[in-house]
Amino acid sequence: MRRLATPEDIDAVFALYMHEKVVRFLGYDPMPIEDFRAIYQALLDTLCFYVYEREGRIAGFYRATRYPGRIQHVAGLGTLAVDPAFHGQGVALAMVSEAIDALKTAGVKRIELFAESDNAPALRFYEKLGFEREGTLRKYYKRAGEDNYVDEYVMALLFD
Ligand SMILES: CC(C)(COP(=O)(O)OP(=O)(O)OC[C@H]1O[C@@H](n2cnc3c(N)ncnc32)[C@H](O)[C@@H]1OP(=O)(O)O)[C@@H](O)C(=O)NCCC(=O)NCCS
Repeated sequence: MRRLATPEDIDAVFALYMHEKVVRFLGYDPMPIEDFRAIYQALLDTLCFYVYEREGRIAGFYRATRYPGRIQHVAGLGTLAVDPAFHGQGVALAMVSEAIDALKTAGVKRIELFAESDNAPALRFYEKLGFEREGTLRKYYKRAGEDNYVDEYVMALLFD
């Protein structure tokens, strides 16, 4: 079940974010917790960064941002991950299905996200949920210590 993240969740979120199987696919390179504090505060300040709990601990997180004005029917998903200890158990499916239901109830008609072209599990996952690939952001993403720039796919899920 999901709830808004709180300042007290920082250690659990940091541990999950920096996990070697996760950090490759999020927005920042590995860093010490002192540097992460400002990034975490910015996530809290969005008022739409959620943690998802299983068995009394944080099993995943995501941000679901509503946009303003003429794109207020659109929401962006991001900063999304599941603890590798829970991978392959349907946690992401449950977590994101709940997020989609909440956004639909709130009147959202389009959910969009960016996914790395070399992130096969995530691409398969989003496709399973019905997200379709709309385009490519070429050379959009670069990890410290790697020479190549990685393309990102724009993906979206639309409903009535
Ligand atoms: C992508 C991620 C969230 C999936 O989480 P998960 O809880 O393991 O996913 P689920 O168990 O709910 O799997 C649901 C579906 O996703 C797909 N999927 C998940 N992991 C997969 C893998 N390793 N390989 C291929 N498909 C995979 C499958 O279609 C799966 O359905 P199935 O089990 O019926 O085949 C997880 O791998 C993760 O946190 N990755 C690191 C962070 C990340 O990539 N975030 C997204 C950035 S865009």
